[in-house]
Amino acid sequence: MANKLYITDTILRDAHQSQAATRMRLEDMLPACEMLDKIGYWSLECWGGATFDSCMRFLGEDPWARLRALRKAMPNTRLQMLLRGQNLLGYKHYADDVVEAFVKKSIENGIDVIRIFDALNDPRNMEAAMKYTKKYGGTCEAAISYTVSPVHNEDYFVNLACTLKEMGADTICIKDMANLLLPYDAYSLVKRLKEKVDIPIHLHTHNTTGTGDMTNLMACSAGVDIVDCALSPLANGTSQPSTEAMVATLRGTERDTGLDLVKLTEVAAYFRTVANKLKADGILDPKVLNVDSNTLLYQVPGGMLSNLISQLKQAKAEDKYYDVLEEVPRVRADFGYPPLVTPTSQIVGSQSVMNVLMGRYKTFTKESKGLLRGEYGKLPGEVNAEVRKMAIGDDEVITCRPADLIKPELEAYRQELKGITDSEEDILSYALFPQVAKKFFEERNKASAPAADNNGVRELKVEFLG
Ligand code: CO
Repeated sequence: MANKLYITDTILRDAHQSQAATRMRLEDMLPACEMLDKIGYWSLECWGGATFDSCMRFLGEDPWARLRALRKAMPNTRLQMLLRGQNLLGYKHYADDVVEAFVKKSIENGIDVIRIFDALNDPRNMEAAMKYTKKYGGTCEAAISYTVSPVHNEDYFVNLACTLKEMGADTICIKDMANLLLPYDAYSLVKRLKEKVDIPIHLHTHNTTGTGDMTNLMACSAGVDIVDCALSPLANGTSQPSTEAMVATLRGTERDTGLDLVKLTEVAAYFRTVANKLKADGILDPKVLNVDSNTLLYQVPGGMLSNLISQLKQAKAEDKYYDVLEEVPRVRADFGYPPLVTPTSQIVGSQSVMNVLMGRYKTFTKESKGLLRGEYGKLPGEVNAEVRKMAIGDDEVITCRPADLIKPELEAYRQELKGITDSEEDILSYALFPQVAKKFFEERNKASAPAADNNGVRELKVEFLG
């Protein structure tokens, strides 16, 4: 069975992030944990990505407490999280001391595998997170953000994988966030990676464009070690292909997953009730299951298309949709072909909308300027020098690792929260989402502060509110 295909199930993270705005609650997860823990997955993705923000912003949950509860409920399964390199779970670069503390606490609270990626595939933005994952005993899964462009060919990805391996990666993930990796390309890429890199290869795709199952299967034929799937109630469409379908497909073949379809069906039955609840609440819109053929045609991720539509609606210029779709590849080329993933998808998208509505490069967003100035890291291709000059004039372009320009930050956050909380986890929540965390701490204090026992929390809360 050495050759079996391993499965990571994303039901507790990407599945509901992709289909249901990351709104699954801990109370919806816990009843399934004992069953999930007995399946025999390679790992369960259950934390990171947007779950951290969503916990505090929408669900009134402490993300760290969620992680500890999941760890306790699933002692036998590797727990996995998604981390945006130097951006951690936020949207900007943090100082290295914040990265170290965050990675350390994630592992201490229960994470085994950290999947680390960078929107631009700049290894320097992954360096610190990878180093600290290793230092604190985690499994370091370094991810390639897959995209399609004239500079993103197979050689590029294979070289990147070799670099990440040299940097200490334990496994390599092909992260195909927009389901742009077509089945035969997956076969060919995995084949080459298996020849060049002697560590496990893990494939993450979605089913947005309807090719997800085929992509997983072709990657499996090429020797991929692990694939991401989601239990069927929250599988397919913008989420991952279904676990049960993959397990059934491989049954009796040399890549048999060894997972028990009966057990999977039992857990799936439970998650169907959760999915139905999310549907009843209007959070899960069945539209997410439609095959997105525009993405196949324009190679623009599905999430980005819906953002463009809503931006155009706001500007009452919905008739310009196809003009914007044509503008996107042009802006992307001028900006040096960044993969279109958070935050670059928003940056390229907004700039394209502005170009169409106000004239090409008449104005630049702050983020476009930052990207062209090198604040996000090295762009994969050549930047159009003329466009860059229009955006930032003669400003110096950053060529060092962007985080080298950030001084240690943790102590300042600690001081800001003095008297409110001295929990290192809270300080990290605050570092990532200051406003959201502040509000969350207030609500939490209200809910838990015993009326008679004034341990200082209440007085200090006043100061905090001020
Ligand atoms: Co994903």
